This record gives sequence, structure tokens and C-alpha cells, in this order.
Amino acid sequence: MALSLFTKIQKAIIGRAQDDYATKMRLKYKPYYHAMEAQQGTHIRLQGRDMLMLSSNDYLGLSFHPKVIEACGLGAKVWGSSTTGARISNGSRAYHTALEEKLAAFLGREACHVSVAGYVSCCSAVATFAQKGDLILADKNIHSCLLDGIRLSMATAERFSHNNPEDLRQILKDVPRNAPKMLVVEGVYSMEGHICRLPELAQIGEDNGCFMVLDDAHGFGVLGRQGRGTVDHFKLNDKVDILCGSMSKSLASTGGFVTGSRALIEYLRTNSKQTLFSAALSSSQAAAASASLDIMQGEPQHLARLWKNTKRYREILKGLGLDTWESETPAVPIVLGSKELVYRFWQALLEKGVFTVMSIAPAVPPGKDLIRTAVSALHSDEDLEKIGAAMGYAVKQM
Ligand SMILES: Cc1ncc(COP(=O)(O)O)c(C=O)c1O
Repeated sequence: MALSLFTKIQKAIIGRAQDDYATKMRLKYKPYYHAMEAQQGTHIRLQGRDMLMLSSNDYLGLSFHPKVIEACGLGAKVWGSSTTGARISNGSRAYHTALEEKLAAFLGREACHVSVAGYVSCCSAVATFAQKGDLILADKNIHSCLLDGIRLSMATAERFSHNNPEDLRQILKDVPRNAPKMLVVEGVYSMEGHICRLPELAQIGEDNGCFMVLDDAHGFGVLGRQGRGTVDHFKLNDKVDILCGSMSKSLASTGGFVTGSRALIEYLRTNSKQTLFSAALSSSQAAAASASLDIMQGEPQHLARLWKNTKRYREILKGLGLDTWESETPAVPIVLGSKELVYRFWQALLEKGVFTVMSIAPAVPPGKDLIRTAVSALHSDEDLEKIGAAMGYAVKQM
């Protein structure tokens, strides 16, 4: 039957978006997308109230360092606000190669490639090197950007239990030794704060011919000499083929990096769709990351303060009997186990002027619903005292 000119066809996709349950819940309870009105270090203003930030990834607290702010402004003055082009065509600048050389030297790698987001870099680190027919072995708790990389690669994926070398060994038992394989892990898991069991995992990977990709978004700046990260912490640089990460955490900027041998990075520059068809990192962001990298090497007090604060903060939580999922790093979850408890705890902290982030299943495994907190080198003793009092109050509200 011919459709009447006056019958408007319903667009199924618009209907699905409008009916989305998760979006409706988000808009009803408003736990996310808070637009802060002001910020100065760990102090933020939200809905007219002064609050403490306890969930940013500014581990070393460099986002308000005068040298970083100055470099950021100067970057735009010298180079303009954007290259408005991809690296392969009109977007490459001397500041990209300078930052790449600096990062590569710091990490003890031959070469580095930077891009506009950690998400893009880490996704491309997997998607570029794996292909259909390969087997990817990935930790169950890896970040969404690595999962997207796996999907884009069209390789077959097997997930092993979180940070569990024995499970990985079992899976690999029946896989032909010379089949193309990739092992994908994080250096520090962002929700759990766990450090990768790299010595065992890398050894199994090596014994089975796995190409190893490690995303150190949360280990960089936090572990290793001067913050060189998880691989340096274990002195296993030669075991990791691709070390990628983000510049939006300890480097107090935005953007991401992929490092490896020169041959691998040149292969990525030829084959990564995320690199070929996306505009280059802006000058101000590159300058901020570069200045942070200098500070990491010249001002050790930030890393020392980060670990002092981490120790104190963990003691506070332990004293209150809170479950921190055995976090070993400044990323400290408070596991409460259900979204209702998480919501109440989060609200109680907010009431006392402490801003945190809720993370509920499926973003975390079922039963591990948690408040994601992260301590920074910028938190003062007074901040930590206030945080301790707020935590005590939240515990009493449960
Ligand atoms: C493990 C991991 N990899 C990559 C990213 C993406 O980094 P960015 O936020 O800089 O895009 C994140 C961000 O949270 C992360 O936690």
C-alpha cells in the first residue's frame, strides 16, 4: 500500500534515544556532568558552594603549576590555537616532534607518537597492530578505549580474569605457539588502583609469542623513577612492545601517546586510522605536557607529596573500615556493592563539600559498585582532614 503523503514515518533511532532508561535515570538523579563554576587546584565551586575535588586524575597536581600555565599560553601565542589538520597532511609541527622525542627519551623508548586524546592513542595502539585472525588476550578489567581497539581490529578476543597470570596461562595452553597473538593490559587499573602483575604476565606473554600492549594512563607520573610508570617500576621495558598512555592525568594536559621501536611507530603512522584521519594535537596542550614532563624531572617534591598523601588517605579509609579493593596507588575506590549505597554515600560526601564520582555496574563488575576517588599531590593536610571528616559522616549515613 502506498504511504499517504501526510503520514510521517517515525524514526526508530530517535525513539530509542528518547526512551533510553540510563539517560532518563541520569537526568532524574543528576549524578554526572556537573559543570563546576570555578577551580583553583583541589578547590572547586559547584552550585555556589566551595568544595574539595577528590576524583580528578591530576595526580601530581601540575594543572595549576605556574610553569605549565605559562607554557600553555605561550604555545597558542607562538603557534596559534590549532593546526586544523592531520599530522600526515598539513598538521605536523616542530612542537609535536619535540614532545615525542622528549617522551620517548624519558620512557627509554626509540620512538613516540602523540595524538589528541589518551582514548585515541590507546585505542589505536591495539587496533593498528592486531588484525582479523589474530588472538587478543586481554585483562577482564581493561579500559573502554582498549576494548574499542579490540573491536576495531576484528581480531578474536579472549578475556582472562583480572590480573590473574594463572588464568592467562590456562587460556594459552591450547593456542598454537606461532599463531599471531597480542596481550593487552593496563599498568595501573584506573577504577581498582591495582598495579599490573607485569613480571608474571609479561613472562607468560613472552613464552607464548605475544605482542604486548600496556596502557599506563594511571601509572605514568605515579610509579617508577621520576614517574616513568609501571614498566620502569618493574624494570621491564624490553618486555613491552607498545607502551601507551594519556597526557590528561599526571601530565596535566589532554592528548595521548604511543611509544615503541621506531619501526612500530612508523607502522602506526602509516596504518592507524585514528592518526591518519584526525587533526593533530594543539600547541597549548603539547606545551602543557612538555612543561609537566620537565617538572616531573626537576621537582621531585610533587611525586613525594603524592605518595605521602596516598598513605595518609588510605589510613583514613582503613580506619573507617571502608573496602578499598586493595588499591595500591593514588586511585582509590570505595567499594560499597550496590548502586543505592553508592548514591547515598556520594550524596553524603557532597553534602560535606567533597566531590567524588560514582561508578556502578556495568562500568564495574557486578557487586563492585563504588565511589571512585583519587588523591593528588595538591591536597593539603587540611584538605585531608576535611576529607576524613566527610568520610566519617558518610559512613554514619549508611
Ligand atoms: C586506562 C585508561 N586509558 C586511557 C584513557 C583515556 O585517556 P584520556 O582521558 O586522556 O582520553 C583513560 C581515561 O580515563 C584510562 O583510564
